[in-house]
Order: sequence, then C-alpha cells, then structure tokens
Amino acid sequence: MNPQRRALLRAGSLAAALPFTAGAALALPLPAVPVGATPDVLATNQAYWQAVAAQYDHPADVIQLDNAFWGSMARPVLEHYEQQLAMVNRDNAWYARMRFPADFEAARAAAARALGVATDEIVLTRGATEALQVLIAGYNRLQPGDTVLYADIDYDNMITVTRWLQQRRGAEVVHIAVPEPFTHDNVIAAYADAMARHPKLKLMLLTHVNHRNGMVLPVAEISRLARERGIDVIVDTAHGFGQLDMTIPDLQADFAGINLHKWIGAPVGVGAAYIKRGRVADIDPWLGEKAGDDIRSRVHTGTVNFAAYLSLPKALELHAQIGVANKQARLRLLRNRWVEAARAIDGIEVLASSDPRLTSAIASFRLTGKSSVADSYALSKQLVQQHGIFAVPRDGLASGACVRVTPGIFTPESHLDKLVDALRKVART
Ligand SMILES: Cc1ncc(COP(=O)(O)O)c(C=O)c1O
Repeated sequence: MNPQRRALLRAGSLAAALPFTAGAALALPLPAVPVGATPDVLATNQAYWQAVAAQYDHPADVIQLDNAFWGSMARPVLEHYEQQLAMVNRDNAWYARMRFPADFEAARAAAARALGVATDEIVLTRGATEALQVLIAGYNRLQPGDTVLYADIDYDNMITVTRWLQQRRGAEVVHIAVPEPFTHDNVIAAYADAMARHPKLKLMLLTHVNHRNGMVLPVAEISRLARERGIDVIVDTAHGFGQLDMTIPDLQADFAGINLHKWIGAPVGVGAAYIKRGRVADIDPWLGEKAGDDIRSRVHTGTVNFAAYLSLPKALELHAQIGVANKQARLRLLRNRWVEAARAIDGIEVLASSDPRLTSAIASFRLTGKSSVADSYALSKQLVQQHGIFAVPRDGLASGACVRVTPGIFTPESHLDKLVDALRKVART
C-alpha cells in the first residue's frame, strides 16, 4: 500500500482512499428536442431516432424483432459496465467490502427515484423473476382454503410459483382466460367477474404488460376493485416500467416485481421488488433471514454481479435523457406501423388492440386458424429462414400460440416494413 493511502486510512479518511467509481455523468449525443415537440411529434423525427439508434450495436445477420427478452445496453452504458467490471476484478474485496455497500445503496436510491417510491420500499434483485418469486412465495397472509387467481396471460414462472401456493399455503389456485379480442372494458369485467365468483379470493397476480400479446392490463382499475374487496394484488411489471410512462404508485398495488434489464437497458441481472411501506411483514423473510421490516431481508444475500448494479444509475440517466414518454410514443409508432398493416392482410390474425390504453411495444400474430405450438414454431422458423427476420414463438394464451414481435427504440421503420412484406408472402403461401 502506498504511504499516502496508509496515512489516509490511519487518519480514518477511508472513503477518500478508495477508488472513485461513480464516474462522470453520461449523456447521449442526441439532437436537441425541438421546443414544444410532443412525444407523438418527436416519435416521427427520423434524425432524432437515428441518433438514438446509433448508440446501440445491432446484429448484422438478422432483423432482430425480439427486443422483449432483455434490452441491449446503449454503448455508453456498456462501456461504463466494462470499466466497472475491470475495476471490480482488479480491486476485488478491497472495493467490494469497503465501497460497494455505499455504491449499491446509491444505485438503489436512483432506482427508487425513477420508480417514484421511497428507497426503503424497494430492494434490488437479479431480475423480475427473483422479485416476483419472493413476493408470491413469500406472501404470508393466506389461510388454507383462501383463493388465489392468475390468468393465461401471466408469465410461466409466475404461474408456476402461484400454483405452488396450493402446496405451500393450502390455497385454492384458480385461473381465468383474458377475453380475446380484448378491450379495456371486457378485460376489467373478466377480473371483476372472477372476484365476484370467488368470495374467498385473497390474492391476484396481475401482469402489467404480458409477454404473450403485449396487452397493457388496466392494472390500476383492477387493483382498485380488488382493494374494495380486501384482495391483494402482486403486479408483474417486468415489461411495464421503462417503456410506459408510469411510476409504481400509478399501479395502485402494494407489491410489484420490476425489471431494469429490459426497458431501462441496465446490464442483464438487475431488477427490483417493491413492497409498499407498512406491508413488508406480509412477505416472509428470505429462507430464514431475520424477520424485521427491512425489505432487503426478503431477497437472497449472496455475492452479486457488482458491475451490473454499478451501471444501473447510468442506464437510468440515459433513460431519463430520452424520456419515457418519448420512448413510449416511439415504440407505439413502430408497433402500430406493422400491426395496422398486418391487420389488412388476409390470412393473418393480429392479437392486438388499437386502443392506446392497451398498447405496448409488444404485439403478436398468427396465421388464421393456425394456433398450435408447432404452427407458431414453424412460422417463426419460416420468417428467419426465408426472410431473415427473428420474431419469437409464444404459447400459453387460451386462444393458442402465436409469434411475438417487439421493436426496440433503435429499430428502424424499414425493419417493420420488411416484416409486413414477409407476412404478405407467408399469408399467400
Ligand atoms: C411478463 C414477464 N414477467 C417476468 C419475466 C421475467 O423476467 P426475468 O427473466 O428478466 O427475470 C418476464 C421475462 O421475459 C416477462 O416477460
């Protein structure tokens, strides 16, 4: 250790002796947003979105229309991540023990600000799966015989853990199929009807933006109805936060699982769990951890991917620079571009609504009458092999399997036009 550092340590100025990790503020080199440009106007500004797209690396061998798995990092976030990785690898325990706790807390506080909640209402996790498993499995207010509800649009792992409540808590687990075609009112009615039919309903899983057809669930309305009946909801907003102009209190729910590596563009391995203040005791501590009201005792405590969490504030900064309302408007424009054209093609069934309240970046389609899992895999394969377009098959909807299309904020319109051309050809054959 060099003499200066030793002197600082002896003098107790420990933090001053440690490597500086926070880094300078990042900014994307984007054209200024014209004064008064609304998100819908900016959504059509080619120069602006080309400048955004220039901040990302893109695959050269395929048109990548599956941007719902996780969100690529913008290059400045990637570079920051690489620097943090090198720093952590070099400084090892010296960094991790001495400085990481404060940096981790700063990342948590930055996430809480963006989510619109207090820092002590969230805990960072490795993703939405971990967050939701903690919330669903840990929810301890169920008595044997109470009812728990999920829907066909929910995510497979979350359905699995919800079903497990039968063995774990003795609950009766029931499910509904969200109507198709779906509308704002018929979706709310489906949940209201389930609440009326199941008087012992105590807990519902609600997926804010589902990964099968991309519908935005009217979560706040459903949560309000649930609250009136004393039913708790756990919201899966793996796809909501970051692409929709919302914060967590808008959901009107006390529990939510969040992804930060999808639409925020943080490195893979970053999410968060939200528990409204005053409700932590309703979620069990993680595997025998000390009970108490610190939300951090609800998740796994092992060694984490330090660099991923350290890069979260940078990803949030870039997200804020573009602006979530602008991202949402651009994604909607891209989604509508292919959805509306595909609706006009005979032989293509589009699983999407035109109601902007229900619209996310994600939407799906199938060949009319071809709803088996094998059909959706064959269609996805055909798009890759014959047209160089990657869109992923999805199953699990009560109406059958489909192929999902998800542009990112960096996707050019031309990629969606190529998809529509391909669909015309596929439908003809
Ligand atoms: C609706 C939904 N919930 C939860 C998850 C789980 O997210 P992760 O795998 O990042 O933990 C996903 C992943 O795609 C999802 O689509």
